[in-house]
Amino acid sequence: MSLVLTDRSLVRSHAYVGGEWCEAEGGTTVPVEDPANGQVIGSVPEMHGIDAVRAIAAAAAALPTWREETAASRGDSLRKWSAAVTAATDDLAAIVTAESGKPLAEARGEVAYAASFLDWYAEEARRAYGEIIPPPQADKRLLVIRQPIGVAAAITPWNFPAAMILRKVAAALAAGCSMVVKPAPQTPLTALALATLAERAGIPAGVLNVVTGSLASSRDIGTAICESPVVRALSFTGSTAAGIALAQQAAATVKKVSLELGGNASLVVFDDADLEAAVAGAVAAKFRNAGQTCVCANRIYVQAGIHDAFVEHFTAAVRGLKVGPGAERDVTVGPLIDSRAVAKVTGLVDEALASGGVANLGGKPDGRGGHFFEPTVLTRVNASMRLAREEIFGPVAPVFRFETEAEALELANATEFGLASYFFSRDVSRCFRVAEQLECGMVGINTGMLSTAVAPFGGVKASGIGREGGRYGMDEYQELKYLCFGEIHS
Ligand code: SIN
Repeated sequence: MSLVLTDRSLVRSHAYVGGEWCEAEGGTTVPVEDPANGQVIGSVPEMHGIDAVRAIAAAAAALPTWREETAASRGDSLRKWSAAVTAATDDLAAIVTAESGKPLAEARGEVAYAASFLDWYAEEARRAYGEIIPPPQADKRLLVIRQPIGVAAAITPWNFPAAMILRKVAAALAAGCSMVVKPAPQTPLTALALATLAERAGIPAGVLNVVTGSLASSRDIGTAICESPVVRALSFTGSTAAGIALAQQAAATVKKVSLELGGNASLVVFDDADLEAAVAGAVAAKFRNAGQTCVCANRIYVQAGIHDAFVEHFTAAVRGLKVGPGAERDVTVGPLIDSRAVAKVTGLVDEALASGGVANLGGKPDGRGGHFFEPTVLTRVNASMRLAREEIFGPVAPVFRFETEAEALELANATEFGLASYFFSRDVSRCFRVAEQLECGMVGINTGMLSTAVAPFGGVKASGIGREGGRYGMDEYQELKYLCFGEIHS
């Protein structure tokens, strides 16, 4: 095991159910590997549906006491948890890097991003306001109150092993729900470290439960969660195909489902853009986490007048990125998560090159082997290539040329997805015009980084339903109840 931490007790080999550190009912375990070198860095219980059912029961048992706490008291608990997470930043970042592959600087950034959801929802808990509605009859008074929906579940991805958990858990716990978390099979150690810190921060037993599994057993856990009538809300971040399957299963118990699914973000650079800002924004939006984020720029459209200058400066900037294991000094592009990811990205690039695309930089798996892929800039690409339609999820930047604003909008919107879009322009009227016409849930204008705990994150079309973060994020874990008082006499 290569993980060197100040606090070794953060690395767990047991799941967390009802306040107990436990094994899977079936007794089997599954190894966790470092994608940079394939080394086994730990192992966790290989749980199945039966274990998920146990965790759901633990969450249900903890619910009445937790939801009866005052919002201020729940907020205090979240704040203590946030302080514990922040104090453990270096260790958590080392775990995130070891199991997801991302560079240490990005992992530290992710821990801060993750903790910011605890801080934000610690405050928002106290703002779960209701409403008083002017009554249609003089002897009536109408009120709307917000109540926790009940037991909630989160199924989270490997690309942000800390932030995607706390984005969901913080909102759910603030609302007064208890939760069962099923982390990605590739990255359970971060989830268990977060649960360790939650336990130390005094989050009561059963309020947070973490059920670990293998790739093979994950489907069984997902089914148990979806089919349970006790689970009233499910929040999932992952692929569109998996999200649709979960939503179909969850429909039988009429759960509230929020889905943050695949993206195919466009990044448009207009002739009037600040070239330097556009290049920096495109590098940030494309190469964060080696291109493995749902909001990564997938298609870069550059207007004819600035195209060649953009390609020259962008290629130079990408050439400056350093590929290597995330734990190595100065590395900015880590490995892809597994060999399937490398095969997929290679296939997309090969198809583009075979159809007339040109690799200005990179274009193949990195010479060091393993899961590394060269930072790649492709030009002479077109809309019929697969990489224009599919989420690349790798460090590959295809740059398309366009002529007019109308054409850019048409190209940007020509996708089944609608998570994020970005564009660069110094014309204020154009900024509003384009932002309003882009079919997506989030727009970065003159920036390649839009994620923050204080704003609503989510998509339209095949990119999902629901919002996480900001003041809207708690809605996913609340029910509105309408109270109608009669016989009110003056
Ligand atoms: C994601 O890739 O799903 C999340 C990225 C973010 O929160 O910025």
